[in-house]
Amino acid sequence: MRFEHLVRPAVRLMKPYTAGTTVAQAKARFGLKNVVKLSSNENPLGPSPRAMAALAAIPNAHIYVDDDHTELRTRLGERYGLTKDHVLVGHGSNDVLMTIFATFVDPGDEVVQADPTFSLFPKDTALFDAVAVRVPLVDGVHDLDAMLRAVTPKTKIVIVCDPNNPTGTRVEADAFARFAQALPPQVLLVIDQAYREYMPPGSVEGVEVVRSRPATIVMRTMSKLYGLASLRFGYGIADPEIVGYLQRVRLPFNVSRPAAIAALAALDDTDFVARTLDVNESGRAVLEREFTRLELPFFPTAANFIAVGVPVTATAAYDALLERGIVVRSGDGLGLPGFLRITIGTAAENKTLVGALDVLAAGWAAPRQRRLA
Ligand SMILES: Cc1ncc(COP(=O)(O)O)c(C=O)c1O
Repeated sequence: MRFEHLVRPAVRLMKPYTAGTTVAQAKARFGLKNVVKLSSNENPLGPSPRAMAALAAIPNAHIYVDDDHTELRTRLGERYGLTKDHVLVGHGSNDVLMTIFATFVDPGDEVVQADPTFSLFPKDTALFDAVAVRVPLVDGVHDLDAMLRAVTPKTKIVIVCDPNNPTGTRVEADAFARFAQALPPQVLLVIDQAYREYMPPGSVEGVEVVRSRPATIVMRTMSKLYGLASLRFGYGIADPEIVGYLQRVRLPFNVSRPAAIAALAALDDTDFVARTLDVNESGRAVLEREFTRLELPFFPTAANFIAVGVPVTATAAYDALLERGIVVRSGDGLGLPGFLRITIGTAAENKTLVGALDVLAAGWAAPRQRRLA
């Protein structure tokens, strides 16, 4: 450790972000030919075809992109009946999150968040020498009353992930409205809605909260529904004054020209969006039915993934599926031991998954029966 003394104390304690296993890693580990990747909640239909068509010719790669992203921000603002000045763009919504922390969080500030929730919340909290106040989920759902009780004069931000990663659960809209109004007005409410478009009718719409409670930022992404995960485009919606502070901090040119071109084209891809939502909805119904048949407990999901319980360790179940060419996410690394987080795939991918689980569940049932005997 020749350089550890140079590193900030907060960083010394940190681990790098662990992304899900890649297809190449899975193939290499077990010499597999075909791999089904259901680990990172990507779009199983691929990217938006309109985005791909627009990317066929990227003009002016040698010229810096319009850093104001006037057209894209205007379009995004209009979608919500707002203006360009309500929109901050980012290199994925991860970048928006980091910009929020860099803009608002001082050392010692408290950041109230669920446990477990998206891993970058505690990570960014630690990076900025703030204190993560982690409020356990109840039955897999944010405990809004307990989160409210956790607010102190030191609280800078309260983050709600809706739907929550890794559980896929959502908060109830009426309860959330009461919670948002009860939060002291000086506390910044951050609502991560990376999976908003998958949610059923009547779910929380973060942008409405921005209207009724100005100290609120909603984060959205085009990585999931629009299939642009690798292009990196996410955005935040907030009061123009808040966006103005964030604009001071974000990196210049943090959204590349290809990302901006793809995002703009994808916004018009209504066919693709409809197909994606159809495939997700039917896949959800199939997986929930099959998990019930296999007696595997799961959290009701409002997203494009399901957290399903297994009667062995999550890592053992993850390994067993990987050996069969299916990559999922082990809950062991996500604060959800005993569960796998599985992206809802195409009909064929879901069938492969269920086939593998059928075989594995028979093996899992045997020791259970032995124990009962
Ligand atoms: C809750 C949540 N927020 C944000 C992100 C990151 O999205 P992006 O690709 O826009 O950085 C993810 C991705 O998995 C997520 O699950």
